[in-house]
Amino acid sequence: MKTTIWEITDINSKKDQDKLQEAANYLIKGELVAFPTETVYGLGASALEDEAVRKVFKAKGRPSDNPLIVHVASQSDLSELVSEIPEIAQQLMNQFWPGPLTIVLKSTPGKFSKYVTAGLDSIAVRMPDHPIALSIIKAAGIPIAAPSANQSGRPSPTTAKHVLEDLTGLIAGIVDGGSTKVGLESTVVDCTEAVPIILRQGGVTQTQLEACVGIIEIDPGLKPASTPKSPGQKYQHYAPKVPFILVAGSPAFLQVEINKMKAQGKCVGVYAWKEHEAIYNADLIIAEGSLSDPATIAETMYGVLRKFDQTKVDIILGEIVPEFGIGTAIMDRLRRASGHNVITEHSN
Ligand code: TXA
Ligand code: MG
Repeated sequence: MKTTIWEITDINSKKDQDKLQEAANYLIKGELVAFPTETVYGLGASALEDEAVRKVFKAKGRPSDNPLIVHVASQSDLSELVSEIPEIAQQLMNQFWPGPLTIVLKSTPGKFSKYVTAGLDSIAVRMPDHPIALSIIKAAGIPIAAPSANQSGRPSPTTAKHVLEDLTGLIAGIVDGGSTKVGLESTVVDCTEAVPIILRQGGVTQTQLEACVGIIEIDPGLKPASTPKSPGQKYQHYAPKVPFILVAGSPAFLQVEINKMKAQGKCVGVYAWKEHEAIYNADLIIAEGSLSDPATIAETMYGVLRKFDQTKVDIILGEIVPEFGIGTAIMDRLRRASGHNVITEHSN
């Protein structure tokens, strides 16, 4: 299949509006089109068509029990998808939409493809905060199911180039709108019970959610070796092809680990923060985000993991971030990317 690339440079121009309509027409026809959101690139498909949704699972190599998020362009688009909107969900939408918050609600079965929700009786919905995403959904005039536009298990794509690496020839097209801003996926909150539950940490922090709705729980299944409520959270994710180990400790401790690997004859890459870049002695050091502004770490993280795969390193040793604010979501992704392979200072 030929994968068309539509480059958007001025969304208000007639030329770019025509490109977005062309991309939307593919979605209406049941084809797959990747497009940028504020979090990561999504792989869009009509949420109404079984065949279109099945193509998403096939192109990504995604397990069929992992449901998709349905993207809408306005709150009013929800009426056909969900059976009720509890007060708390309404407050969350008012505060955080459009934005990196996905809300799980009770669904209206029969109104969309059953493959979207992988057999669950709830549906995850979100209104992205990106002019291109909103424009395409509006132009298509249908709800759009869109997982991250990567091969299942790989780091999510934050540029059109990443999407091309994973899905060229497998999808009808890619809308190239440059790099995404947040860099990691939306927070997923289950609002089907009285107290909302965070099922996936992401672009909106727990503190922000609590400030809006008061008490909020975290799915205990998010801890390693337990069973998460959100099917996607049980899979290893976001992993580079090269083995990746997180090192929880001081830069001096990380340097000791680098030296050990080098003594084994390994070509060692270090994923560091800008503040520590000059400290390490290794074969390759990549530092694009800054500890003083963890949002810059979130923004660049998946791109850095993909970059290491283009190099000759045998192993990546990575720094960690303090777990508060966006740091919680960053550490969730880094742990998964490493397959929970963490070396801790003072652990023995
Ligand atoms: O930022 C994002 O959310 C991106 C962009 C493209 O919008 N999308 C994204 O989709 O990350 P995906 O498919 O990579 O992740 C969706 C997550 C999975 O962990 C899935 O299990 C969970 O949402 N999910 C979807 N529907 C659910 C439901 N009904 N109940 C619980 N979890 C659900
Ligand atoms: Mg994903």
